[in-house]
Amino acid sequence: MPFARGAFDSLMTSLNIADQESADLTLKEAAERGMGVVIKRPVANVAWRHTEAPDPKAYEYPYWQRLQKLKYDFLQNDLEEAVGKALRFTLSTPGVHSAIVGTANPHRWTTNARLLAQGALPADEYEAIRARWRQAAESDWIGLE
Ligand SMILES: NC(=O)c1ccc[n+]([C@@H]2O[C@H](COP(=O)([O-])OP(=O)(O)OC[C@H]3O[C@@H](n4cnc5c(N)ncnc54)[C@H](OP(=O)(O)O)[C@@H]3O)[C@@H](O)[C@H]2O)c1
Repeated sequence: MPFARGAFDSLMTSLNIADQESADLTLKEAAERGMGVVIKRPVANVAWRHTEAPDPKAYEYPYWQRLQKLKYDFLQNDLEEAVGKALRFTLSTPGVHSAIVGTANPHRWTTNARLLAQGALPADEYEAIRARWRQAAESDWIGLE
């Protein structure tokens, strides 16, 4: 389980639609300790944008593989809309304070900020993603570094 406790009582961990172990384990522990929580990999590397399997050694491969089984309907939508829903899922998770989205394209910041301006995911959409994870996640789908 990725867990890094820093000098300011903060935790950085992965959490996204394809990596929900921390929502069940680490975030509760962090909340009980009053720790700030920063999320890495918040949009699951947008691994679903690859129509063909990436190289198994590729950074995004584990999420690509998990998403083949999770098969969230909303990932069939327009890419930007799907990224928005994935990012809002992560930031709607109780105990999450911030997220760092990786990108090689500076314009993503304004796009992602606009997507987040829609606010938290409606509870039914949030719970549908959690439920699908509980149904499909395999025992070795641990939080990634
Ligand atoms: N997670 C870590 O601990 C860590 C540590 C050190 C370095 N990194 C580096 O950070 C990068 C990935 O970040 P991450 O691991 O935190 O994963 P992430 O944020 O879940 O996903 C990053 C990916 O999302 C894409 N993306 C972001 N916004 C998008 C949008 N609006 N529409 C479409 N695609 C969008 C980016 O592609 P574009 O580039 O095309 O925008 C990027 O490939 C990697 O290069 C990794 O080596 C990560």
